[in-house]
Amino acid sequence: MKKIVIAIDGYSSCGKSTMAKELAHRLGYVYVDTGAMYRSVTLFALREHLFDAEDTLDADRLSALLPQVRIDFRLNGENVEQKIRGLEVSSRVSIVAAQPFVREMLVRQQQAMGEGKGIVMDGRDIGTVVFPKAELKIFVTASAEVRAERRYKELQAKGQPADYESILKNVQDRDYMDSHREVSPLRQADDAIVLDNSHLTIAQQDAWLMDRVREKLAE
Ligand code: DC
Repeated sequence: MKKIVIAIDGYSSCGKSTMAKELAHRLGYVYVDTGAMYRSVTLFALREHLFDAEDTLDADRLSALLPQVRIDFRLNGENVEQKIRGLEVSSRVSIVAAQPFVREMLVRQQQAMGEGKGIVMDGRDIGTVVFPKAELKIFVTASAEVRAERRYKELQAKGQPADYESILKNVQDRDYMDSHREVSPLRQADDAIVLDNSHLTIAQQDAWLMDRVREKLAE
């Protein structure tokens, strides 16, 4: 059967990762969470003390150190899945993701991963920059309150500290930074299909997505 590239973009905490992972699993495709790549670079910058007290990033130093950073779903060999989801990284990742040299390196890696097709990639610029020719592009959205509520419950379930108001503010701040930054701002590709999942169950969403995939594969 023919294999396609599926680009899933949208706002933070829309459940993109869960949906993309499930879709990849069903199709037997590779799943790539590009947000985790930007988060890993942010964790690296934190550990190298590249943020000052005002959270200004020492971009020159990060640029010099970046060639040493190896991300293959781990950061330099360490499993950082938990650490990259905490507020320390979440509140600074937009600063790192706004650096052109960071994006350049990560986009190159992402494009290489999609060469053989059969991939589901989620992020902010997948349908616009990484794979502008992706066969299927989905743009996911949901209200900021719904998204904050979901992240709050997620953290609570993991027994991690969670405060709804600060999570909501983090979601809104990131929306603003993601869609107003100079390099590759979050924007819907002209040929993307919009999915507002504020009031959809995971099962309804998965069924909707599979329908879109079937349509594309039948073309
Ligand atoms: O999807 P996420 O919340 O894990 O993404 C973390 C941050 O990384 C988010 O604030 C925006 C940035 N990001 C990006 O700029 N480009 C991508 N392709 C993926 C994420």
